Amino acid sequence: MYYPNLELAREAHCASMEQYKRMHEKSIKEPAQFWGEIAKQFYWETPAIEDKFFSYNFDLSKGDIFIKWMEGASTNISFNLLDKNVKSGNGDKIAFYWEGNDPEDYSRLTYRKLLEETCRFANVLKSKGVSVGDKVVIYMPMILELPIAMLACTRIGAIHSVVFAGYSSDSLAERILDSKAKVLITTDGVWRGEKLLLLKNICDEAVAKAKKHGHQLESCIVVAHLRRLNNLQGKMKGVNGTSNGTSMDIANVSWDDDRDVWWHDEMEDAEASCYPVWMAAEDPLFILYTSGSTGKPKGVLHTTAGYLIYAATTFKYVFDYHPGDIYWCTADCGWITGHTYVVYGPLANGATSVIFEGTPFYPENDRYWSIIDKYKVTQFYTAPTAIRSLMKFGDELVKKHSLSTLKVLGSVGEPINTEAWLWFYNLVGHSKCSIADTFWQTETGGHVITPLPGATPMKPGSATFPFFGVLPELLDEDGRVIEGEGEGYLVFRRPWPGMMRTLYGNHQRFQNTYFDRFNGFYCTGDGARRDANGYLWVTGRIDDMLNVSGHLMSTAEVESVLAEHSSVAEAAVVSKSHPVKGQCLYCFITPNTGMTFDEKLQVELKKKVRERIGPFAQPDVIQHAPVLPKTRSGKIMRRMLRKIAAGDRNIGDTSTLADETVIQLLFELRPCV
Ligand code: WT7
Repeated sequence: MYYPNLELAREAHCASMEQYKRMHEKSIKEPAQFWGEIAKQFYWETPAIEDKFFSYNFDLSKGDIFIKWMEGASTNISFNLLDKNVKSGNGDKIAFYWEGNDPEDYSRLTYRKLLEETCRFANVLKSKGVSVGDKVVIYMPMILELPIAMLACTRIGAIHSVVFAGYSSDSLAERILDSKAKVLITTDGVWRGEKLLLLKNICDEAVAKAKKHGHQLESCIVVAHLRRLNNLQGKMKGVNGTSNGTSMDIANVSWDDDRDVWWHDEMEDAEASCYPVWMAAEDPLFILYTSGSTGKPKGVLHTTAGYLIYAATTFKYVFDYHPGDIYWCTADCGWITGHTYVVYGPLANGATSVIFEGTPFYPENDRYWSIIDKYKVTQFYTAPTAIRSLMKFGDELVKKHSLSTLKVLGSVGEPINTEAWLWFYNLVGHSKCSIADTFWQTETGGHVITPLPGATPMKPGSATFPFFGVLPELLDEDGRVIEGEGEGYLVFRRPWPGMMRTLYGNHQRFQNTYFDRFNGFYCTGDGARRDANGYLWVTGRIDDMLNVSGHLMSTAEVESVLAEHSSVAEAAVVSKSHPVKGQCLYCFITPNTGMTFDEKLQVELKKKVRERIGPFAQPDVIQHAPVLPKTRSGKIMRRMLRKIAAGDRNIGDTSTLADETVIQLLFELRPCV
């Protein structure tokens, strides 16, 4: 057990387990009062109706699932994040320090300037015909225009849908289509480490694909990010592109005059003030797509009031944020972590954060540590996969930098293994920082199971206890609640303010995915164990989902891409454990009759998955499988494939297989990995 450092605990917002238990109990017994008190920190144009503060149904047998917080209230999120901070005298405070891919390229933005830019861009969006309820897709690198674009949407009640700028044009097209987006915001391109990504070209392909399916995007707004870098040529040594003779050509992107405009041209004449549109508590705030086990991505929908108070409260307590702290979350805004803990949570607390465009490995493998040193970071939030990849480079790179300002370290995305936890704690945190191993999901909107830095004694690898308002249970196969020690399905008994409300355009799928398995409970899809001290240990997905470097994807979506190849008859994908990525993709391929399984096919298949889903989805292993292990009814036995992938001969009972000899054959064909 690792106890919070006393100095940290003395100042902490939640300073002891007794206080945590008291607050948690109140949040469960009197949710309306608990969250009502917290809501007072924010500005409400109209207040909530007191006896309708919180209502929900989690029981399908009683009708449709619904979740409502603060009915009757109206507010504007950008107003609470920006105007309120400026009005209270924090206009000159830094909201974001921006650190570019190149260490010589950096800037900063105060709250006042962020408000101005947000208003300006909100006016640009209005001039493009965007109004309340319209969808805006954002496909951008981690530059300041990204949070500005998100906030500008909230200013006018438009719904943003940020798509991670590592997704392929197919994935982007699918998301543009599903959300029926009016406007797309992107950049000409971006350098990630030494790699150049031409984002505008990917957007052009995606828009063309969406058009083929009958959707016409109205406008594409392009930030001249590469062009800006090229203009710096000569002024600055070392900035990417300068050593590269083709840099000017790169910035010459293709252009459709009827659709495409430059961000800076539009911003030039835009007014720097924009009256906020007051949104009802349950009006949509944003859609964020996440992988679904059937292959088609799910548009997770979050709404206004509940998300705001939950993002703000989790940020304050889980990172124990105090004025003067410098917080840094390494997540990309393309993921939920970037929404809640780069943009909404920090700004709702008037915090100062670092936004980083680049990678941990450029220009050297100590980039993270040098950034912590440079900005005197106090809270550092990252992912186990990043920690594991940095561990490989040895301790010296960490020790070279002063990390003495750090107080709280956060981890998110997958279970953190003990070795990585200890390295993070001892080396990065000098054995004096608390580690917040935060369990949550795109769907949960914010942390749901997490330690609080000043209160919770830590056990490496355990996400510990529920946050305020959260009531977890472990269920067995038959839906019976497991009391005390045990392992089962991790579910939640009731909603907290920041949880998703529906899947965009598909409430039926929302109900089927999360509420059908166990009546009366939200089902996370993860398994968890409760130990003798009541600590929760999330063990990982128990559905057909894979977690590669913290990116969630489904076996089905990868399988369907593989099966499209003309030489492939059938594909089955499982996960295999990987020392850095956590899990990696292991694919079994049955070629069509007459087709050979060779090196060329393997290369083509890997390339196809990269192109169709994104580079992060590239399979590590492609194995020949003349037949797949199936039951008599034709169901593929993934459990056995996982064993084969792991090289574990302990297959267990094979009597349900239609053909038991398959297993031996697949072991023989297993490549050396
Ligand atoms: C899945 C959600 C939440 C933002 C990042 C991912 C896994 C996440 C932890 C953790 C164990 C974790 C779960 C979850 N996961 N955090 N601290 N310990 N597992 O969001 O893409 O929606 O993925 O990530 O399997 O269901 P996401």
